Amino acid sequence: MAAIMASITSELLFFLPFILLALLTFYTSAVAKCHGLHRWSGRTKKRRPNLPPGAVGWPFIGETFGYLRAHPATSIGQFMDQHICRYGKIYRSSLFGDRTVVSADAGLNRYVLQNEGRLFECSYPRSIGGILGKWSMLVLVGDPHREMRSISLNFLSSVRLRAVLLPEVERHTLLVLRDWLPSSSSAVFSAQHEAKKFTFNLMAKNIMSMDPGEEETERLRLEYITFMKGVVSAPLNFPGTAYWKALKSRATILGVIERKMEERLEKMNKEASSMEEDDLLGWAMKQSNLSKEQILDLLLSLLFAGHETSSMALALAIFFLEGCPKAVEELREEHLEIARRQKLRGECKLSWEDYKEMVFTQCVINETLRLGNVVRFLHRKVIRDVHYNGYDIPSGWKILPVLAAVHLDSSLYEDPSSFNPWRWATRLGWRRTATSCPTAAARGSAPGRSSPSSRWPSSCTTWCSTSGGSSPSRTRRSSTRSSTSPRGCPSGSIGLRRRRKEKGSKAF
Ligand code: HEM
Ligand SMILES: *[C@@H]1O[C@H](CO)[C@@H](O)[C@H](O)[C@H]1NC(C)=O
Ligand SMILES: *[C@@H]1O[C@H](CO)[C@@H](O)[C@H](O)[C@H]1NC(C)=O
Repeated sequence: MAAIMASITSELLFFLPFILLALLTFYTSAVAKCHGLHRWSGRTKKRRPNLPPGAVGWPFIGETFGYLRAHPATSIGQFMDQHICRYGKIYRSSLFGDRTVVSADAGLNRYVLQNEGRLFECSYPRSIGGILGKWSMLVLVGDPHREMRSISLNFLSSVRLRAVLLPEVERHTLLVLRDWLPSSSSAVFSAQHEAKKFTFNLMAKNIMSMDPGEEETERLRLEYITFMKGVVSAPLNFPGTAYWKALKSRATILGVIERKMEERLEKMNKEASSMEEDDLLGWAMKQSNLSKEQILDLLLSLLFAGHETSSMALALAIFFLEGCPKAVEELREEHLEIARRQKLRGECKLSWEDYKEMVFTQCVINETLRLGNVVRFLHRKVIRDVHYNGYDIPSGWKILPVLAAVHLDSSLYEDPSSFNPWRWATRLGWRRTATSCPTAAARGSAPGRSSPSSRWPSSCTTWCSTSGGSSPSRTRRSSTRSSTSPRGCPSGSIGLRRRRKEKGSKAF
């Protein structure tokens, strides 16, 4: 069944270019003329809809290429800047082949997310379904979506977070950090690579109890890298393309998960007890009436959703912190203090209370997510005519809430392009006064070539690793750092990668 579906999907995708060509012809001859106005005026005869201002761009492709053009991750890019300047924070465009409203407005974005299912629904490009599966949560809408979501959310209950996930995170963290000790192979490593390994291992463990370092896990990880390259590439399905390779990887990965499922079933039958592993696979098999195909897609999408995002956030945190020694110092104090109290209590494991006490750490996380914009924008479809702030947005249109534009809005965040974790502390009315660090952009202007000087903050080995290294003068060059953009922003390569990502997956 799955194989048949896969082959149908791949055939459809093979014909995509031709379908696009046909659509292009159709578009120029018919659609461009009315551009949505007819349908609306048919329903509300009295007045023309007050669409947000904007331009249509080229036939079919509209302004898509301008919209997706690479730009530093810590900026919203020239296209957004110009459009917001000309039309305001809510404007109309033609993107990805759809009539679209782009929203850089915090209020509208909130409105969209709060009315999910009522006025708006998820609407990612078709290629996402081909690669993540038709049961992926990014593809499903309505009741099936709710059902899948509640299965995943119930799995991540707060009890589980405390009892299982936290110790697991600690264990995997120590495992990665152990490799960083000066004695081990290389003194130079990529923060992004390490972050990916860490989150992959964590996800693989929690999803299907695969242990890090084992051959099977490592093989799955390599397969997953191929898969990922396809998710972020153009959906052209013929031999040799990244997308084609990714579909093959998808099949291989599903094969691995399926084998795990069969093993599990056998074990359950044999032992007839509740000996199953405490992972998502076991949970999905036990707690729900999902079909095998549904479970496979759920697991694969969760592996993707949890791995790509959090590894990017981790790598970005390291990157931002490198330019902000004051924040590193404060983080170090906070963690040393927690470790000291832990020792006094005679404990050696991180507890939920310890985690709750990491107030400044939380500020750093918030600031990293704000400035790093791991997910820049979302894809939604309007399913009922919407009236917002004087604008009409007709049903059938797409709407893209641009989260990044809100995060970098200078009317909401003072000096939005600087990495300033203390801004969150002030928001909370917390003790310290804000002392911002030089902007990430400013400090990126020179480095790049002088990579050996980018030293690992000396504090890190002390609070991260169990052995407390005293000579942590190891050099590091994160891959996010290796190229410098012309404007001196450190994030040239992030911008590029981000753009490729958005072409394929849009959100992740
Ligand atoms: C820094 C880390 C993360 C970021 C920035 C992030 C961001 C997002 C965003 C923006 C969405 C909404 C997509 C949309 O509705 O169009 C989303 C959905 C989702 N994320 Fe994450 N995520 C992160 C980590 C994780 C992790 C660790 C997991 C799983 C363990 C996860 C699982 C999911 C799932 C299942 C959905 C779909 C929810 C639904 O459709 O109802 N995410 N994430
Ligand atoms: C699972 O069972 C519930 C209630 O019996 C039903 O509403 C739902 O559609 C079923 N889900 C699937 C995926 O079969
Ligand atoms: C981090 O951001 C969330 C969401 O905006 C907020 O609820 C929380 O209070 C923030 N935490 C800190 C420490 O500022």
